[in-house]
Amino acid sequence: MQKLVVGNWKMYLTANQARSLAQICAAQLNDLCRENDIKLVLCPSAEAINGVVQAIADADALAVGAQDCASEQSGAFTGQVAAASLKEIGCAYVIIGHSELRVRGAESDDQLEKKLQQALAAELTPIFCIGETLQEKKADQTNHVIKEQLAPLKKAMASFKSLKKAYIAYEPVWAIGSGLVPDAPTIENVCAQLDQELQGYSDRVRYLYGGSVDADAARWLWQVPHLAGLLVGKASTDFQLLKKIVGYKQ
Ligand code: 13P
Repeated sequence: MQKLVVGNWKMYLTANQARSLAQICAAQLNDLCRENDIKLVLCPSAEAINGVVQAIADADALAVGAQDCASEQSGAFTGQVAAASLKEIGCAYVIIGHSELRVRGAESDDQLEKKLQQALAAELTPIFCIGETLQEKKADQTNHVIKEQLAPLKKAMASFKSLKKAYIAYEPVWAIGSGLVPDAPTIENVCAQLDQELQGYSDRVRYLYGGSVDADAARWLWQVPHLAGLLVGKASTDFQLLKKIVGYKQ
């Protein structure tokens, strides 16, 4: 089954830098992705999307995703980007609920559900992020937090019966940018919980891991049976690291 590597470029690159990196990825990673049956999804910041879409136009193993979308279809929402616009300019995926936005923007469950609805209506494949904070982990609340965080996705999916696919990225907040990665059994436990919580959607939902994925972690993360791929932040802005991450999948 095809696996996904999602590069969340956050705000690390300018529009020109993003286009240049996308050109290199298109030229040098497309064959490797095809050999390893990987779809490489590049998620630049909004202003860089156009350039990245053009840069990967001839690379069929690559795709473009957005880092967020608006919770409304259109209207007086300064600074927001509509899911339909993202689709129009060539995005196929959208990250929703990233913890850097959940925390800063204090996104409510209602907003997240609406964002998912917008993404699904625009035929973007959502990459929905979940994961506990360090405090929640220490308090042994991971399972509880994950159950709660899944609510918007369950609601949105229930109203989109024709939905083809959604990805859930397990991204513990404490693992993002920290160099720490949970061990394989911990990730497997979360995936088993997701299987349980999402009974009835199992044919349409697949799981990614995110948080400090680098070349070393990718080596063993590719062996974790439940995972359909990796969500990579900082390391995905370094071409050599990204190449290794893609290349380590057997
Ligand atoms: P890092 O890979 O830089 O830890 O970021 C993970 C992330 O937030 C991807 O969405």
